[in-house]
Amino acid sequence: MPSATPTLSQAERHHLLDHGYVAVEAFVARDEVDRLRIIVDRLFSSRAGWEDGNQFDLAGLDDAANNAALPQLLYPSKYAPELAESSFLQRAREIAASLFGNDLADDYGEHMIVKPPYSGSETPWHQDQAYHDPAAIERSINFWMPLDDTDEENGCMHYVPGSNRHDVLPHHSIGDDPRVHGLEVDNAGQYHEQAVACPLLAGGCVMHLPTTLHYAGPNTSSRQRRAYILIMQATALPRDRPIDNYWMREKRTARAEREAQSGRPGGTA
Ligand code: NI
Repeated sequence: MPSATPTLSQAERHHLLDHGYVAVEAFVARDEVDRLRIIVDRLFSSRAGWEDGNQFDLAGLDDAANNAALPQLLYPSKYAPELAESSFLQRAREIAASLFGNDLADDYGEHMIVKPPYSGSETPWHQDQAYHDPAAIERSINFWMPLDDTDEENGCMHYVPGSNRHDVLPHHSIGDDPRVHGLEVDNAGQYHEQAVACPLLAGGCVMHLPTTLHYAGPNTSSRQRRAYILIMQATALPRDRPIDNYWMREKRTARAEREAQSGRPGGTA
């Protein structure tokens, strides 16, 4: 059965472009959620991608001796090729094509994050573009789909409306520890009072732009919070002058070392 609403409504599209994010319930059908859950659980329980540096701990020191506080897997479809057939990918691509037209790249980013029950780790306030090429103005849409019902107890997404109009803001490694992969925007405390929480049922989706500030709280519930993220990209524009992303130059993570040893290129957060 074809999807009833393959792209975004006018109102949703305006919300995304004006406020930097938009939430859509029932982005995929229930049976697709069930199918994706099985794949996610398999990939994390088998530690797929760990040796390549594609599975790692976004929040901790990322050594194999400890359980990951915030396990993340980049390029999950390398380890589960059936993901290329998902209706999540199909709908995300249709929406991105409706916004970017012929500039839409065939390549897309993807990752999965599991927030275990009672996991103290938050995903701190950041802009995705702070991780990326300092010489480019990125054009992309991030599709964040929870595979569990999410609310403020188990780490739903939060956004600062209109923050997409900022350029890249200064960031630092979480805890000012360059061994930690994750970034936090400087002076993050100020954003909590401007934030809008986006609770979603499993299979809903929030979309955001490369400079939209976002945050997900710790999981204080007994439920896990699995999420599958796709990033659709259009050709980036060159900057006249690259930004100084000193926060990336300072990084020294265990994952980067595994990746260098395995000789495979890494991805983005
Ligand atoms: Ni992000």
